[in-house]
Formats: sequence, structure tokens, C-alpha cells
Amino acid sequence: MKIETKIVVGDRIDKRDPARAIVPPIYLSAVYSFEKAEHGAELFAGERDGYIYTRLGNPTVEEFEKKMAMLEGAECGLGFASGMAAISSTILAFCGAGDNVIVSEPIYGGTFALLNKVIPRLGIEVRWAKTSDFANDIEAKGLIDERTKLFLTETPANPTLDLVDLKETAQLAHKHGIPVAVDTTFASFYLQRPIELGVDVVVYSTTKYIGGHSDAVGGVVLSSAEHMRQIKKNTVVDLGGTMSPFSAFIFLRGLQTLAVRIDRMQENAIKIARWLESRPEVERVYYPFLESHPQFELAKRQMSGGSGIITFILKDGRDAGRKFLDKLELLIVAVSLGAVTTLIEHPGSMTHSAYSAENLKKAGIDEGLIRLSVGIENVDDIIEDLERGFEALK
Ligand SMILES: Cc1ncc(COP(=O)(O)O)c(C=O)c1O
Repeated sequence: MKIETKIVVGDRIDKRDPARAIVPPIYLSAVYSFEKAEHGAELFAGERDGYIYTRLGNPTVEEFEKKMAMLEGAECGLGFASGMAAISSTILAFCGAGDNVIVSEPIYGGTFALLNKVIPRLGIEVRWAKTSDFANDIEAKGLIDERTKLFLTETPANPTLDLVDLKETAQLAHKHGIPVAVDTTFASFYLQRPIELGVDVVVYSTTKYIGGHSDAVGGVVLSSAEHMRQIKKNTVVDLGGTMSPFSAFIFLRGLQTLAVRIDRMQENAIKIARWLESRPEVERVYYPFLESHPQFELAKRQMSGGSGIITFILKDGRDAGRKFLDKLELLIVAVSLGAVTTLIEHPGSMTHSAYSAENLKKAGIDEGLIRLSVGIENVDDIIEDLERGFEALK
């Protein structure tokens, strides 16, 4: 079965559902009864499969977790209340006080805030290496020691679209017995196959391409059964960041159109990226499948498409960006990405505002950078609106 088919009918619910429903039911029940006291004790002891309480497991959330694991090629999946809950739980599953985690830079602003503010307070040290040359930079800086417990990466990186070479990274990490986690929110299993490249843990904000409609917040972690035992035992149940059954249903529904949505977004994105490159007002355009992307060869090797995110820098910097955004009529000025609607934002003052001016510079995020998450509208209408933005710069 090809991936497009697997997404839609890879796990036919009607063959398992007592009512032969072709859409999974939503189990909103927070609590599940025990036949007898002994049954409850066995469930708590893990001697029997079944449900106790939705924070510990829910049939609709499990349906989503199993589907994501099948699509990702992972043994197990675990749903979370948000992408940030998935990321924080992954870090805490592997690292404790005195340990260190090596992280690729730049990274999503929320993850940066977590790593900059919360994680160090727990006695976990964060060591940064450059996204675009991750494995080599780790070696050059001599970052690995006996207390390194995790590599955490994001590719394509938010917002610069720098790429991490996942195969090379996994080889380096495994040489030292360290697991690698990657946030693949920008690409998804449809465009990138981290587990096949040696990555141990895949993390998503499902709020983005998986949901696809900006109507639910969630996250998922996918890994081997062995790593999942560590993640589940150490974090989600106790920290409580579990996915809601209703959100799981929304993500299962969103997933069904993921392939057609991303196909259309990519088709639009490459046309827009090339058009932006031709504009005199634009200093630089970043899109992994543009020949001008510094890691174009890696993009072609590691991804089957460039996804729907484009970033660009206007020649006149941040002020020009503000004028540009204020003139748009069709495109929505808003954070988040991966939705059917085109969304546009300024990372320096919005999604990445946790970075100081100095940190933005260090991470290679230009203050004038604009991030465009291309939707499924007619591409000519998107371009016409962007033209309106350029008019404001005259
Ligand atoms: C790459 C990436 N990872 C994680 C997150 C956080 O996800 P959530 O907002 O679902 O917590 C985001 C949010 O924008 C993101 O862009």
C-alpha cells in the first residue's frame, strides 16, 4: 500500500468496531469501570490491557496514536496535549539533573524558551550546535560527554528552514549510545522518514500539518517500544499532558486529507518561492527545494518535497516587513502553520520573541525575516496579495 492509501484506509476501523462504523467513535468518558476489584488491581499492575482513566489511556487517543505509528513506521505512539507537551516530556524522559542535552540551533521559539528558562532550572544543561552542520559542529565543539543523554533536533528548522542531516546525526549519536529525537512538524511522515534514517524518537506539533485546519492543539511522540516505555513511565502519566479524545478525533479526521493538502501547498509554495526570488524588494528567499537553498542537495536526499513553508527577508528589514504585513488583505497575519489557510508572520517579534536580539543573531535568524505558511488557495490570489504588500514599500 502506498502512503496516500495507507493514510485513508490503512487501518480500517470498521473491521474492528462492533457497529462496523467507518469513522472512529469519540470516547469522551474520563473514567472506565472495573468488572470486579481484582480486575481494577490487574489493570493498575499492568497485568491486563484495558482502560482505567483517560489520563492513563483512552480508546480514541489510542486510535490516533496507532495510526500515527503506522504512518511513521514506528512501533509506538503517544498523544500529548500540545507539541510543547510532547517536546518537554521527551526531554524529561531522557534527562535528569546533572545530564545535558545537545540541541540544534535555531529551533522553534517555544522550544527555545523551554530550553532557556525551564530546563536549566531542573539542573539539565543545554548545549547548542548549528542546525545546518549539526554533527560536525557537535564534534568540533566537543559537546558530547558521559552525561549527554539526548540529541534534540528540528528539521526543517523553524524559522530559517535550515536542515539537519538526520542520517549523519544518528550515526554520531549512536556511536556514543545516545538517542536522537527530531521535531518533524514542518515536514511530516509524508515528506521525511526519520526512523528509516536512524532517528530514535519523532516528535510533532500535530496542531500544524496533521490537523491542517487550525482547530485543535496537540502533539505526538513516536518511537520504539523500548524508548516509549521510558517516555510513558517517566512523564506523560505523571506530568498529565495527555491529548484530549476530542482533539484525537479532529487529528484523525485531518490526517485523511494530509497528502492532498500537502501536495497542493507544495505546488503553490515552489511557485511563490520562485516568484519571491524574482522580486527586487526581496534580499533572500529560503525554501528547501529552491536551487539557491544552501542545503538543496540534502533536501533532495532527505525529503520528498519542500513542504509549504517559505521564509524571506525584505531588503529594507523589519520596518519594511511591518508595512508589508499591514497591507495584506487575503493572507492572514497570524502565527502557526500547516493549515489550509495561508498564514504569514514576523518570527522576530512573534513566534520567536523569546529570542533576544543577540540570540536571534547567534541563531542566524534575521530580524527582518518573514515566515509564510502557504495554504491551498489559488496561487494567483496569494501572489496578488503579496504584490499588494510590495506596493506598500514603494
Ligand atoms: C516546529 C515546532 N515544534 C513545536 C511547536 C509547538 O507546538 P504546539 O504549539 O502544538 O505546542 C511548534 C509551534 O509552532 C513548532 O513550529
